[in-house]
Amino acid sequence: MKYVKAIYPGTFDPLTNGHLDLIARGSKIVDELVVAILSNADKGTPLFTVAERMEMIAEAIAASGFDNVSVTTFNGLLVEFAHAQGAKAVLRGIRAISDYEYEFPMAMMNRKLAPNLETLFMMPTEQYPYVRSRLSKGVFNLGGDVSSLVPPLVMQRLKAKGTKKI
Ligand code: PNS
Repeated sequence: MKYVKAIYPGTFDPLTNGHLDLIARGSKIVDELVVAILSNADKGTPLFTVAERMEMIAEAIAASGFDNVSVTTFNGLLVEFAHAQGAKAVLRGIRAISDYEYEFPMAMMNRKLAPNLETLFMMPTEQYPYVRSRLSKGVFNLGGDVSSLVPPLVMQRLKAKGTKKI
């Protein structure tokens, strides 16, 4: 059997239960999974710094007991990072058809750039089809309860940010 290392890239601002579910699923089918936070994302002002996101993911990995999962950051092209890591695959989650429309061009572009790098799509548990980092932040900021959408350690950090009431 070949050793399969995969990269799970994203902005993770912040980590949600949907992300964590995908990490759990991915870690069962590959030998090594590297969660990679894009550090130069062009998505407006992030809520959490890259260092904070990295800490939260590292804590969540440790709390879940995943022994073949690590977290790091990357800049620039994902395919170059994957190559430098010796990874054969990129893991991404697909919840709804709209995700497919977002993911398909990225996967095909990555394939064009690196034909030997495969994109693996997995579906998160049916509990989290609507969970998105952006929605979780927005609901939290308006005082909504997002405690079932993010891991407890992320919830603590959200509260510590002092954003609106919870
Ligand atoms: O969590 P996100 O924001 O949906 O993740 C998007 C991400 C980080 C996977 C994507 O923006 C990415 O891979 N960026 C790195 C730049 C790159 O390689 N672009 C070419 C592929 S389209």
